[in-house]
Amino acid sequence: MTEKNAKLVIGDKTYEFPIISGSVGPDVIDIRTLYKQTGLFTFDPGYTSTGSTESQITYIDGDEGTLLYRGYPIEQLAEKSNFVEVAYLLLNGELPTAAEYDKFSETVIRHTMLHEQIVKFYTGFRRDAHPMAITCGAVGAMSAFYHDSTDITDEKQREIATIRLIAKMPTIVAWAYKYSIGQPFVYPRNDLDFASNFLRMCFAVPAEEYEVSPTLARAMDRIFTLHADHEQNASTSTVRLAGSSHANPFACIAAGVASLWGPAHGGANEAALMMLREIGTPDRIPEYVARAKDKSDPFRLMGFGHRVYKNYDPRAKVMQETAREVLAELGVENNPTLQVAQQLEKIALEDEYFVEKKLYPNVDFYSGIILDAIGFPTSMFTAIFALARTVGWVSQWKEMIEDPTQKIGRPRQLYTGSDSRDYTDIGTR
Ligand code: CMC
Repeated sequence: MTEKNAKLVIGDKTYEFPIISGSVGPDVIDIRTLYKQTGLFTFDPGYTSTGSTESQITYIDGDEGTLLYRGYPIEQLAEKSNFVEVAYLLLNGELPTAAEYDKFSETVIRHTMLHEQIVKFYTGFRRDAHPMAITCGAVGAMSAFYHDSTDITDEKQREIATIRLIAKMPTIVAWAYKYSIGQPFVYPRNDLDFASNFLRMCFAVPAEEYEVSPTLARAMDRIFTLHADHEQNASTSTVRLAGSSHANPFACIAAGVASLWGPAHGGANEAALMMLREIGTPDRIPEYVARAKDKSDPFRLMGFGHRVYKNYDPRAKVMQETAREVLAELGVENNPTLQVAQQLEKIALEDEYFVEKKLYPNVDFYSGIILDAIGFPTSMFTAIFALARTVGWVSQWKEMIEDPTQKIGRPRQLYTGSDSRDYTDIGTR
């Protein structure tokens, strides 16, 4: 914390507000007393200049293209760690010892099964339901099945809810897929690692053995790791806002899933692959780039641009390498979608419009290509993102609940509607 102050002059009055420093990153002006002192609120739609919370979990430097989980660069974690270890790190703040890792991993594995009655819940959905619709419903419904972990004032219950959410998400998402293709649900297996278990639950059938490819499992694990957290993005802020009213954790995470679904956020991976397929061949790229630049056309290049990253998205770099590995393993290096993606990236990065606006490929640009190559339909992409981001959501939710200064989130507004007026009778309008 620093001793610096910011001065605000309104008319002939000067008000002072403390400037607070974090461990890294820009300082913030503490305006908590602004309304009390001045009778004014700030106006910041989209929160482009607003810090909503203090947090020790994830740090992003958008200009440098840096992403740290608890201080560890994402590139190192993607290369050397794995998703379960990253989950422990995000939740607890430190990397686990070998004994802590084994215990945590074992606990997660032991919670992967869903309450058997949830099978009936699934069968209530239409077969053509979007996996995100099912995921959102199933996560919300967890509060109806796991009553013994909804008391947020009980630390043990909070911990169990957290583990249940991390462990059961792969089963929920895999079953959403199985249901949509009319195949029997595949139950989790405790002898498999987190990513392999998920792949098996998605692609195994009772009629034959399913062998998980270590390269695909590694790619899946990387996708989970790269998506695990991203500080105060829309869905995480949704989880925090929902949790600030002391709603139970399952309800809060269901709210996060809903927020993630939109194409400006997690839905972009699905939209990006559909766009690449629609472009089809590199010769059509200029047409789409021109459309993206045309202000009278709502079309945007999906998988490009980010609110925070204005240099490059470090996750996109790892994704691009992983995409190459996966396509080589599958023997489809000449995949036309990858070729369009690589050409599009090249053309856009040289185009003045994209350079000037600092629009770079984001994590979703390449993740779709990997998921498609593994065999997932586009409708599953965002649900897989939700599975991974659950770790970030529960870590941020935990941090918020354990913060003694936590208050209910309640933004104010600039009202521009009608002033007070008298009700008129329906016959006289
Ligand atoms: N294609 C064309 N123009 C774009 C794009 C794009 N993908 N993204 C931003 N712009 C333009 C935009 O039109 C605006 O131009 P102007 O200043 O002339 O009005 C300028 O760049 C700034 O855009 P913005 O919408 O004000 O920026 P934002 O920070 O509010 O939006 C974004 C960030 C990610 C929503 C946006 O870049 C976008 O819609 N990208 C496509 C969707 C996408 O890939 N989303 C995934 C984000 S990464 C995964 C995640 O964390 O969810």
